[in-house]
Amino acid sequence: MSLRMPLIAGNWKMFKDISEATQTAQRLAKQVETVTNRQVMIAPNAVCLASVGQALAGSRVELGAQNLHWEKEGAYTGEISADMILSAGASHVLVGHSERRQFFGDSDEIVNRKVQAAVAANLIPVLCVGETEPQRDAGQTFSILDKQLEFGLQGLFSDDLEQLIIAYEPVWAIGTGKTATSEQAQEAHAHIRQRVGSLMDDALAQSIRILYGGSVKPGNIAELMSMPDVDGALVGGASLEAETFARIVGYST
Ligand code: PGA
Repeated sequence: MSLRMPLIAGNWKMFKDISEATQTAQRLAKQVETVTNRQVMIAPNAVCLASVGQALAGSRVELGAQNLHWEKEGAYTGEISADMILSAGASHVLVGHSERRQFFGDSDEIVNRKVQAAVAANLIPVLCVGETEPQRDAGQTFSILDKQLEFGLQGLFSDDLEQLIIAYEPVWAIGTGKTATSEQAQEAHAHIRQRVGSLMDDALAQSIRILYGGSVKPGNIAELMSMPDVDGALVGGASLEAETFARIVGYST
């Protein structure tokens, strides 16, 4: 039996202004008020972070940022640091989302610096990994995951990573409506867990949560969550509406 508490996380990407974000957050907090056996987190854009943090105060919905810079402060126009994120009331941060890797130059080395910065500040990193469609077709899924994990976690030790969360997000399933089958998700998650075991240690590998992301909806969450190594979901499009997201959070086993 797994002791890993399921985590359903919403990634709002570049959607919602402050009033939309706070209203959605308040509605969501109400809708999931009575859910006790699942952890819930949302990651709004940086402009909304502090006001959503206030809207969620006292609720059971946790707050995450979508990105961070690895330096503590400095002349880095447009960037935000781990401490700034913490000061907005957030506890989590997404690192290495495929959109960051694809459009904003987040290489494995940069992803690693960001994971290190988050860990150093006590901000929980949600390290995102996943293969593209051509990589899957070429049979490279596992080697890509290995590389992203190996580089992403370089220089870190098991003790640093007790809170680590990994999100497996096959790039071909993000925003496309094409979900990985639960078997494909399970296979990748089991591989990731085993790889973390060999890079760090088995106890850590067994305790960390691995979320699935890529077109998760109310209609496919239960099936995905029935897999032994799927410990939660990172939800994009279907997290934008409180009611839909609350249905995902409340999936029945
Ligand atoms: P999606 O996005 O649920 O819209 O596919 C997932 C993600 O990018 O985290």
